[in-house]
Amino acid sequence: MPEDWMVSRGEFVDPHGLLRPFSEIIRLLTAVEQERGLKEYFEGYNAGGRCIFQVFSTEFVQELADAINSTLKQTQQGGPVLEVMSGDGVLTDFLKPLVGRDIIATDAKSPRYKISYTKSVERIEALEAIQKYRPAFVFMSWEPYLSMDAVEIAKTGTPMAWIGERPMCGHPDLFEIGHIRLHSRYAIGRHDSPLNGRFSTDVYLFNCSAT
Ligand SMILES: C[S@@+](CC[C@H](N)C(=O)[O-])C[C@H]1O[C@@H](n2cnc3c(N)ncnc32)[C@H](O)[C@@H]1O
Repeated sequence: MPEDWMVSRGEFVDPHGLLRPFSEIIRLLTAVEQERGLKEYFEGYNAGGRCIFQVFSTEFVQELADAINSTLKQTQQGGPVLEVMSGDGVLTDFLKPLVGRDIIATDAKSPRYKISYTKSVERIEALEAIQKYRPAFVFMSWEPYLSMDAVEIAKTGTPMAWIGERPMCGHPDLFEIGHIRLHSRYAIGRHDSPLNGRFSTDVYLFNCSAT
């Protein structure tokens, strides 16, 4: 049975309408899954009409912010933090108050996805964005399947966080490069089942030391 706050104008709320604690996100997704399954909900059938690949919570965003801040502190490298393939840019928006550096959200804005791209997201290819901004840290969530961009970026030595589900996104070659898996307890992706406790996404750090 959905709780009152979970429904707006007859639809389940957008999980990214505001940054919510992990416990609320799990309760919300469990209610959606019980009532009608998560597939369409993540495809945009939610009160915000938002297409979702990774579901962000307060704890997940804080964990990522901690990894970014600690790498920035260790490397003392100048330059902004860059999100490539950012989609609607909501992860950057959630991270901004928590990271002590400018964060720039970028995306090629491919029409292939049902994503509402906002003006605050710069339209630019990922590899071009790396050349343009020379970031101190780059992150991406749900790189398209078999894209080699993350491999190319990791090879530049730029500290990078890759968020997603293996092998459903990105290229398998990426994981032949040394990395640290975060084993996040708060990572939830679009193919997961909170109802059955089945989770398959994580955060993988490249060119970063253990924190
Ligand atoms: C699966 S969506 C993920 C969006 C978002 N990161 C998320 O987690 O919801 C992949 C995104 O990558 C973008 N994209 C695909 N190839 C790209 C490239 N070469 N450079 C920049 N963006 C790209 C698409 O436009 C799309 O917005």
